[in-house]
Amino acid sequence: MWGDSMEKERKERLMEEKYCIICYEPIGSSEPVEIPTPSYEPAKFAHQDCFLTKLEELAGDATREKMLRYILAYEKNNDIDYLRDKSKSGIAGWEAQTIGLPSQKLRPLINAGLLGITFSSNNSTAYALTGKDLIRDFLEGNVAVSRTEVKQELELPDDLFACIISYDDVKDEIKFTLREGKRSHYLMIGPPATAKSLFLMEVGRLSGAYPATGSTVTGPGLTDALLTYQPKILLLDELDKVTMDATAVLLSVMESGDVLQTKYRRHGGQKISLSVFAAANRDRGLAPELLSRFDTKLYFHPYSFDDFIGICRGYLSRYENVPGDIAEYIGKQTWHQLDRDVRIARGVARRLRDNTTNDVDRVVAFLRRYRKEFAERA
Ligand SMILES: Nc1ncnc2c1ncn2[C@@H]1O[C@H](COP(=O)(O)OP(=O)(O)OP(=O)(O)O)[C@@H](O)[C@H]1O
Ligand SMILES: [Mg+2]
Repeated sequence: MWGDSMEKERKERLMEEKYCIICYEPIGSSEPVEIPTPSYEPAKFAHQDCFLTKLEELAGDATREKMLRYILAYEKNNDIDYLRDKSKSGIAGWEAQTIGLPSQKLRPLINAGLLGITFSSNNSTAYALTGKDLIRDFLEGNVAVSRTEVKQELELPDDLFACIISYDDVKDEIKFTLREGKRSHYLMIGPPATAKSLFLMEVGRLSGAYPATGSTVTGPGLTDALLTYQPKILLLDELDKVTMDATAVLLSVMESGDVLQTKYRRHGGQKISLSVFAAANRDRGLAPELLSRFDTKLYFHPYSFDDFIGICRGYLSRYENVPGDIAEYIGKQTWHQLDRDVRIARGVARRLRDNTTNDVDRVVAFLRRYRKEFAERA
């Protein structure tokens, strides 16, 4: 009995001491992938997620993907299975010469941990694939796991989007995307004052959100920001003002997550998992390939009369301290006499000296006197 518990303790200690050779963190309780090593060397391990991330990166290169398929088929046809064979005497694996691949071509696979060395002497080296079954499933498209798709559920504040009136369906969809940690690129396009920036500001409350402003809408600025802050969400208001070189950075990071090294800084290129939330008044002038990368394009319509009045009532009473009935009156007068713009209604509310319909009429009459059309006609 005593011996059993000693043995159990020893095993547990060994389990605790397993580290991932890709991220250098302890393996913990997750099922690791074993990297082939020679029988006279200690075993090496990697987290499944880390392994799949490396696999995804490498298989992104068509030639390397073909090489993996080729090795997989070779091991299958020659009945080579590292995990099964390692305990038996003899060498588990194959030699570069016999498989017909120059050993220098195998280097990237070894560096990524996808291939292990099972034997090495002065005149021969043997190799075997790591996580053969995982590689096969991945190449057959049966494993959806990748670093960019790893589900990272986000805690959303209870009052997220509460300041936005109407748009319940949009709020619901965005919350789903964020909560589930899905990668999705949203573009909101619409006339002025339709709450596009408000949506971005609200998403900006989440940790991991980064608002791109000023220099970060240039190529090098954006690259630096992405590599330095590694945001999960990038907010880009006024997408139409993004420069050509920043567009090139976006095209790459939105499609594959790749942030490429800049000429100016010596960051290595990196892969990050990013969702972009952007807004613009129109899609005209945006590069078609950039537009195409936004999988969720939402064209906001000008508000209908009922929407406009509802929004004025809610917004002005909540944030400008105007009683509901006066807020509604401001909405109606603004719509009929001035402009169908929430910002104009807000301007009226801010000019009120007392909360009466008379005073609203006074402000509206004043603003009408100085309307653009009047000045142009004079
Ligand atoms: N649905 C709404 N709910 C609450 N406030 C709103 C709504 N629509 C507009 N507003 C108010 O109108 C103002 C303008 O909104 P916002 O800045 O989000 O507009 P926008 O769509 O980004 O416009 P632009 O295209 O001019 O940048 C803000 O003060 C905002 O609070
Ligand atoms: Mg805006």
